[in-house]
Amino acid sequence: MTTPLPGFFEGTEMPTAGWWEALWPDPAGVLAAVGVKAGTEVIDLCSGDGWFTLQIAKLARHVIAIDIDPGLLKVARHRIHESGLSNCDFVCGDAYELAELVTAPVDFVFMANAFHGVPDRPRLARAVRATLKGNGRFAIVNWHQRPREETMVLGEPRGPRTELRLSPEQTIKAVEAGSMNLIDLVEIPPFHYGAVFAPAA
Ligand SMILES: C[S@@+](CC[C@H](N)C(=O)[O-])C[C@H]1O[C@@H](n2cnc3c(N)ncnc32)[C@H](O)[C@@H]1O
Repeated sequence: MTTPLPGFFEGTEMPTAGWWEALWPDPAGVLAAVGVKAGTEVIDLCSGDGWFTLQIAKLARHVIAIDIDPGLLKVARHRIHESGLSNCDFVCGDAYELAELVTAPVDFVFMANAFHGVPDRPRLARAVRATLKGNGRFAIVNWHQRPREETMVLGEPRGPRTELRLSPEQTIKAVEAGSMNLIDLVEIPPFHYGAVFAPAA
């Protein structure tokens, strides 16, 4: 991407191919760790080039991949179709507008490697809550708040700038301010954690 897209979350550019696959050799394991279940309706929010979307599509009944960058959605669409799957819709839009982008409530919203760049996090959490069924779940996969020079992949420091990274406590506080409650916090080695939320009563 050369020209910044309006509304683009800071520090959430899709990484160059190669090291992403090395960092995430088991995307299905990540989904299992945060509780994505077979046969459900799932949104992959800020889906990028579909590295996680593909694994969700293998598991879920249906997936809606949402990203602000149409070029990345095209790559994701190609990846999923190449695998012979047809249970995925691709929607271009701003994550803040989630409630307007989907028409029916879903079981699960999965958001990896993007929450750190959201300027108004409670606003995003409220938008997610509005798209979830009453017993739905929102999982955020975030880089740990470690200095960037310590998170080396294939011999180089990777991931968002150190000052953009959020601790689990910061993430939990921001999402709970959007009327959701933490129900699970899991480690996703080597550099990430997953925080799982349910709509507050
Ligand atoms: C670092 S990539 C992660 C992609 C994918 N979740 C993964 O982990 O492989 C972050 C993605 O967020 C998308 N993004 C940034 N701002 C957005 C916004 N306001 N609404 C929707 N998507 C956005 C970017 O286009 C990019 O594809």
